Amino acid sequence: MDARAARRHPAPMSAGIMGEDFEAARLTVRLGAIAANYRTYCRMTGPCAVAAVVKADAYGLGAAAVAPALAQAGCDSFFVARLAEGIALRKILPQARIFVLDGAQSDAVPALLTHRLTPALNSLAEIAAWGAAAASARTSLDAVIHVDTGMNRLGLPPDELAILSGERAHRLAGLNIVLVMSHLACPDEASPMNAQQLSRFRNALAMLPPAPASLAASHGAMLGMEYHFDLVRPGVALYGANPQPDSEKRGEQNLMQTAAVLTGKVLQVRRIDTGDSVGYAATFRAKKPTMLATVALGYADGLPRTLSNKGAAAIRGARAAIVGRVSMDMLTLDVTGLAVNPGDTAELLGDAITLGEVAANAGTNEYEILTRLRRMPKIYEAGKDS
Ligand SMILES: Cc1ncc(COP(=O)(O)O)c(C=O)c1O
Repeated sequence: MDARAARRHPAPMSAGIMGEDFEAARLTVRLGAIAANYRTYCRMTGPCAVAAVVKADAYGLGAAAVAPALAQAGCDSFFVARLAEGIALRKILPQARIFVLDGAQSDAVPALLTHRLTPALNSLAEIAAWGAAAASARTSLDAVIHVDTGMNRLGLPPDELAILSGERAHRLAGLNIVLVMSHLACPDEASPMNAQQLSRFRNALAMLPPAPASLAASHGAMLGMEYHFDLVRPGVALYGANPQPDSEKRGEQNLMQTAAVLTGKVLQVRRIDTGDSVGYAATFRAKKPTMLATVALGYADGLPRTLSNKGAAAIRGARAAIVGRVSMDMLTLDVTGLAVNPGDTAELLGDAITLGEVAANAGTNEYEILTRLRRMPKIYEAGKDS
């Protein structure tokens, strides 16, 4: 790592308790990899535009550092979930288009206007609230129309879309529709729902005034060009997740670069005898003399406890299994046969231990693994791409 290219963002507690220069566990965020992943999406989906989803603090990696790196890579449109995320992002990116997925409930309207945020309008009520804001400001306001094509979560349901279509001149007065969007429920599977939602989305577009359209996020963009429309909105793939999960099973390389590397320091190394147990509830018992390394990373740091006796780490490229329960601040590795010393660094997520592998071992998805790490002390590596 180029020390000049690395920026330190300690977690709030770390300065007081540990001193700023010592973090037993840390998350290294490769901004260059995130920028490269963004450019890969631009190449794969061009001429379609690519926005970046940076909700949940850029999936735990820190929007304050990640969003400017994406902007420098050419991204001019960003999606957040919460109004507060949009307000914070506006301070960092004064010129970007910022879309707020939570929408425009009437109490959110004043702040949306103040911070020049564009809501994804999810219902006729939100369309009315945003239209009323345009009328009272005697101006036209940018808006996204979010139609629900089968997710049944957010967006105009079919009955509201039919009403909107019939009364569009009146209901959309004062609104400049910059995007019509929908969201796929099963884009990471060969599900018939994908084609069904595509067809419903096309029908919805035909019912609305002409406007740029967006259906696909990270995985949906890999389903084929017909899913691209005018804008794709990847999130998790920008942060390193494989948008073609089956490809790893076929032994193919992830097209995305690793963006998050989670490491912990080895605190202690010890030998245990046959029959000795490890950790709480003695869930691991040694079948032979075993060398253990105790690593300063636990579930309080965001590492799932479900990795107990399942996951693995890498120390100088060699893999070591997690044995025993992951506890609050520590985990134990079987390092038998490896040259490991206190002070060594163990990688729990990164190049050797992939995000997909960690998610599978923990019984969850890549999204949850990343966002659980949001409070880790972070080191930002700029890299050549940002
Ligand atoms: C509406 C919407 N668009 C795009 C995304 C980004 O999805 P992904 O992280 O799978 O690329 C999300 C994430 O949940 C979303 O809710």
